[in-house]
Amino acid sequence: MAISFVRTAGLLGVSTGLLVGCSPGMPDEPATSTATGAITLGGHLAGITDADFAEARDNFNLGESIDDGVGPVFNETACGNCHTNGAQGGAGEQIERRFGRVNNGVFSTLANEGGSLRQLKTLGTFTNGTRTCTVPLERDPADSTVHAGRLTTPLFGLGLVDAMPDSFFTGLVAAEPAQVRGTVKTAAVLIPNPVDRSQRIGTVRVARFGWKADISNLATFAADAYKNEMGITTQHCFQGTSITSFATESAPQGVPMPLGCDDLAPPQPAGNGVPAGTDDAVGSCAGGLTELQEDIQNFINFMTFLAPPEKDNSDPVAANAGATVFNQVGCNGCHVTTTFRTPNPAPNGVPGGLAFNPFSDFAVHDMGTLGDGINDGDTVAVTRRMRTAPLWGIRFRNHLLHDGRTSDIATAIKAHDGQGATAAAAFTARNATDQHNLIQFVRSL
Ligand code: HEC
Ligand code: HEC
Repeated sequence: MAISFVRTAGLLGVSTGLLVGCSPGMPDEPATSTATGAITLGGHLAGITDADFAEARDNFNLGESIDDGVGPVFNETACGNCHTNGAQGGAGEQIERRFGRVNNGVFSTLANEGGSLRQLKTLGTFTNGTRTCTVPLERDPADSTVHAGRLTTPLFGLGLVDAMPDSFFTGLVAAEPAQVRGTVKTAAVLIPNPVDRSQRIGTVRVARFGWKADISNLATFAADAYKNEMGITTQHCFQGTSITSFATESAPQGVPMPLGCDDLAPPQPAGNGVPAGTDDAVGSCAGGLTELQEDIQNFINFMTFLAPPEKDNSDPVAANAGATVFNQVGCNGCHVTTTFRTPNPAPNGVPGGLAFNPFSDFAVHDMGTLGDGINDGDTVAVTRRMRTAPLWGIRFRNHLLHDGRTSDIATAIKAHDGQGATAAAAFTARNATDQHNLIQFVRSL
């Protein structure tokens, strides 16, 4: 076969040692986090055994091939090839590409031309039996007018965020100063987490995940990423209902590949009710079956129990002074300093009553020129809204902002526009000591 998939984690993996500047935040530093005690970055919360977590993480890191269903177009061959900074599950180097067009003031994803996500890789030309298949490499179409990059975000602690009730987020935003107040987004759960009894297919929940806060639970994100990042399509069963939301292969440039030219995964057995081309399926949901496809279940297990980053206490004097500046210049209007606490018991099995501080309201704000201009079917003003980026663990990152345009915290702050412009100007107006202290505070989170 002409195509060989090689795991590239070694090339893409960035160790904390590459982070220059302040402290590298090694796990042997004193634990200051009230949230977790000392859990090494990449370690797990209570609620899962070491063995089950290791199995889930291995699945997250597993490189897959055309024979497993990778393709027809894709960005990478393993979740763990992108989510690498600091430890597996971290942020990453990859900047994905999105495109679209504004028609009469409204954003269109140009879905008929393969948008808004432009996958960066293609299976290219390969043979399936006697047949020769050629999958085109996607390009930004000639009529696209909006082009945006999307950096890989870190997954540490997101199981705790997934556990939070909607009312918590609406309460946070209601308490924000009017000039910076965010908008809480909601979205239907497409794949319920079977452990969380509050979730059904179609349950509307606060959408808290992704740069645009478009996705309302980790289970749905897992299947979405498996399809859109890796080209692997899945089918699931929930209480007897077959879920096929992520079972249809991507159509390169908007044109579906003929069956057999999507990838080389074996066809699903006839008569199990799954769309042609589905790579991994549970099959019949008879008897009220609830079962997620096993890779997806492993990704959920890994992300649910992946511990949040510990705080770093290596420069406490500057960080303490910086905490005051952070509030004075209004960063906390969006990057809220509120302590989150998981419900007890937590619906998804993470520890109940656990305190944590992500420094985000998980709501979207109008960021003016910093906004990426992408949002299906929305006005241009709405396309400027971005989710407040959680600041915890930022010292493990080497790219910042949605398009990864900088690695420098001060530069990232100064790029805040729209509802963030006043805070950015207040930061810029501070003297060098205040600015340094604020950055040390941000790096300690
Ligand atoms: C090609 C690189 C790449 C691969 C492979 C990849 N991701 Fe991601 N991941 C990203 C990017 C980029 C984002 C930000 C997407 C956005 O919001 O537009 C992201 C965001 C996420 C988020 C949202 C986190 C948050 O901040 O709310 C989750 C959850 C996630 N990925 C899970 C997965 C899982 C599970 C897999 C494997 C099935 C996977 N990813 C594979 C690049 C990747
Ligand atoms: C109006 C809400 C708002 C205010 C006020 C605000 N931010 Fe942000 N911040 C955001 C949003 C939204 C993003 C994501 C922007 C993007 O990349 O598109 C962000 C991103 C960041 C990032 C980059 C994080 C990453 O993951 O790449 C840093 C660092 C940051 N903010 C620090 C600050 C600091 C420090 C202040 C105070 C000077 C501040 N912010 C004020 C909303 C806000």
